[in-house]
Amino acid sequence: MQNSIKNIQSLRGMKDIVGSESELFTYFVENASKIAKKYGFSYIETPLLEETALFKRSVGESSDIVNKEMYQFIDKGQNDVCLRPEGTAGVVRHFVEKKLDRAGGVYKWYYYGPMFRYERPQKGRLREFHQFGCEVFGLQSVYEDANIIIMIKEILEFFGIGFTLKLNSLGCSDCMPKYKESLVEHLSSFKEELCEDCNRRLLTNPIRVLDCKIEKCQSLLTNSPKITNNLCNSCNTDFNKLKEILDFNNISYEIDSNLVRGLDYYNKTAFEFVSNEIGSQSAIAGGGRYDRLVEFLGGKSTPGIGFAIGIERLLELVKKNDEKEDFVYIGVLDEASLNKAFEIGIKKRKTTKTYIEYTPRGFAKHFGIAEKLGCNIVALIGENELKNETIYTKNIGTKEEITVKLGDF
Ligand code: HAM
Repeated sequence: MQNSIKNIQSLRGMKDIVGSESELFTYFVENASKIAKKYGFSYIETPLLEETALFKRSVGESSDIVNKEMYQFIDKGQNDVCLRPEGTAGVVRHFVEKKLDRAGGVYKWYYYGPMFRYERPQKGRLREFHQFGCEVFGLQSVYEDANIIIMIKEILEFFGIGFTLKLNSLGCSDCMPKYKESLVEHLSSFKEELCEDCNRRLLTNPIRVLDCKIEKCQSLLTNSPKITNNLCNSCNTDFNKLKEILDFNNISYEIDSNLVRGLDYYNKTAFEFVSNEIGSQSAIAGGGRYDRLVEFLGGKSTPGIGFAIGIERLLELVKKNDEKEDFVYIGVLDEASLNKAFEIGIKKRKTTKTYIEYTPRGFAKHFGIAEKLGCNIVALIGENELKNETIYTKNIGTKEEITVKLGDF
C-alpha cells in the first residue's frame, strides 16, 4: 500500500532556500535593508495576492508578464486574483488606497519577498523568485534618478559584485507616441520577416520589438530610429542632466537605446544592472521612472521611481565579505557534567552562536557531530574538567587544543 504513495516534490521553477543559501539570503536582506534605511526608506509589506486588474493596469496588457506569465485564478468568492509578478504595483496600490497622492509629500519604501512568473525555468530564471525593491513617490528631480542608481551601486559594491549599468530614456507622453509611430513606419516594410510575437507587438506596443530576443528581429533594428534621438526638449534635458550627474560622480554607464524593460509603466529614465558572470539571464537589477503609474491606478498625478534586485541572481555573485563567525559546540563526556555544560552553553550563546549537545558521548562522536553542524570550536566537559572547573576546547581550523578555566571560556 505504502509503495503506491508518490513523493511530492516542489513545483517546477520553485525551490527551498536552505543551508548556506539561506544564510546568504538573510545576510543580503539584512545589509541591503540597512543601506535602504540610510537612504531614508522604510519597510512595506504588501499582500502576495492582489486583484488581477492591478497588474493589467500597471505592468500592462502588452507585456509578456501579464500576457503569458501570471499565476491568475478565480478564488472561492469569484474574485479574479493573481500572485504578484512584481512588487511595484502593490506599493502604488497602497499609495493610492491611503490617499497619499492627495496628501502630497515624499514617500520612500523598501520591500523584499517572493514574486511569481510562469516563465520557462532555466539558470537564473525561476517561477518563484525573490526581489529586494525600493519605490519613491513625490520626487520629480532627476537628482533622485541618480540617487537611486548610486544606492543600487552601493548595495552591489557592498556585496563585492561587479556590474555594467545600462541606461536609456523612454521619453514621455509627448515624445514616446511620436517615436512609436516612426518605429512602426520603419518596421512595417519588414512585417513578413518579423516573428509572430513582434507582429503582435507592432499593434499593441511597438517598442517591445526592441526587446525581442530573436536574432532576425534584432537585425531588422540596425537602422531603426532610436528613442534617444527622438526625445522632446524636456526629456532630453533631463537625460543629459542625469548623465552629467553620473559622470560627475564617476559612475560609468552604457547608453542602450533598445532597453525598454519588460513592464509598460516606465517613462523617462530606465536602467538595468547586468553581470556577464551569471549566463544569459544577466540582469541583476532593473528599474526606472514611472511618473504616470499613480494616475493609471486612479490616483492624482505623482512622480515615481524605483528598482528591484533579483535576489537569487545576486546570490550567485555574492562574496560574503565578513569573516566566518564562530560556531561553538558544547558537549559532555558523562551525565554528571550536563548541568554545568548547559549553564556554560547558555552564557556562551549570549555572545556567540552555540550548539549544546545533551547526550554524553566519547570525543570522536562529539567531533563527528560538530563537523556535520559546521561548528569550528568544540568544547567538552567531563569528570576531570568538572572537578577542576575547566573546559577542554579545540579549534577545528587551527587544530589548537587548550583546556581553560571556565571563567575564561
Ligand atoms: P524586473 O526587471 O521585471 O523589474 O525584475 C527585477 C529583477 O528581478 C530582474 O533584474 C531580475 O534580477 C529579477 N527577476 C525577474 N524575473 C526573474 C525570474 N523569473 N527569476 C529570477 N529572477 C528574476 C521589476 O520587477 C520592477 N518592479 C522593478 C521596479 C521597481 N521598477 C520600478 N520600481
